[in-house]
Amino acid sequence: MKRRLNALVDELKRLKGEGVTHLSVTEESLQGLRTAVAQNAPVISPGASSTAGPGGVVDLPSSHVRRTDAPKVFARILAEANQNRPGGRPASTPARKEVVPAISGIPVPPVVELPEGDKETRWKALRARVLQCPECNTHIHGETRIVFGVGNIDSDLFFCGEAPGAEEELKGEPFVGPAGRLLDKIIRAMGRSRDEVYIGNIMNWRPEVPGHAGNRPPTLEEMEFCLPYLKAQIEIVDPKVVVALGATAAKGLLGQDSFGALREVRGRWHEFEGRPLMITYHPSYLLRSDSNRTKRLVWEDLLKVMERIDLPVSEKQRSFFL
Ligand code: URA
Repeated sequence: MKRRLNALVDELKRLKGEGVTHLSVTEESLQGLRTAVAQNAPVISPGASSTAGPGGVVDLPSSHVRRTDAPKVFARILAEANQNRPGGRPASTPARKEVVPAISGIPVPPVVELPEGDKETRWKALRARVLQCPECNTHIHGETRIVFGVGNIDSDLFFCGEAPGAEEELKGEPFVGPAGRLLDKIIRAMGRSRDEVYIGNIMNWRPEVPGHAGNRPPTLEEMEFCLPYLKAQIEIVDPKVVVALGATAAKGLLGQDSFGALREVRGRWHEFEGRPLMITYHPSYLLRSDSNRTKRLVWEDLLKVMERIDLPVSEKQRSFFL
C-alpha cells in the first residue's frame, strides 16, 4: 500500500516538475472522485487547491488526498493524463482493480513549493501554510497549537527533534518543556544561544494518545506527512549542519529501516539531502537515563558539530561534561 502510494505521489510530483499543472481526465474518473467524497472519505479537502469541473480538468492534488482512495482514483487519472499528454507514455502506476483497504486516516504528504523571495518571505509563507494546514489542524484540540520551527533562519545549525510534547503544543513552540530546557543548556555549552540556532521537529502536532496523558512516538504516516514541512524549513535555513535528536528524528530523516539501535549511528556523520547530519541522543533520553556516560557521548557528538561549523572549542569545553 505504502509503496504504491509513494509511487503515485512521486509520479504526481514528477508531472508537476515537468510543468504539468492540470490533468485531463474522463467523466468516469471524475465519478470516482465524487464517489470517494460521497463515501465520506474526502479525496480533496475544501482547503486544497483542487478543482474537478465539468470540463474534466483536475488540478494536481495537494495534501488532502486521503490514503484510502488515492491509489485507485489517481492511478486512473495518471494513466489518462499520461495518455493525453503530448508524447505521452504509459502510466508507471497502472489502475488497480482490487479494493484498497483503509490503513490510516493520514493523507498523502503535501507537496511544498516555496514562493520566490528572500529567506524571511519564504519562511513566513511556509509557516502560514503549516499553521493553516487542514490535516495539522485536525490534530489540534482546545488550547493546543500547531508547532512550527523557531530560531535564526540564517543559522548554520539546525536541531531536529521528534514531536511536540504537552508544553510545546500549548505554547506552539518546539522544545520548551524539560527536554527543551536541557537542549538550551546544551546549546549554551556550545557557545550559542537558543535564538542563534534553528530548532524544528519532524512533527507539527503532538501525536494523540486517546484517553492518556503521555506521549507516543509518531507513526510512519504521520512523519511522512509532516516531513515535507521540515525539509522546506531546512531548505530555507540552509544550515551547515543538521543535528537529529534521538532515534525517531534520525529515522524520520534517514528512513525507518536505516538503522536498528541509535548507538549504531550516533556520533558519525551522515547526509540528509546533501547536508552533513549528526545524530545524537535526545535530551529527554538524557533526562531519563541520567547517565554520565551518555551525557559525555552527546557532548562528544556536539564537539564534532562545533568543529564542523568552525565554532571555537576551548580546552574547558573539550573536557566538559554536560
Ligand atoms: N521533544 C521533541 O522531540 N520535540 C519537542 O519539541 C519537545 C520534545
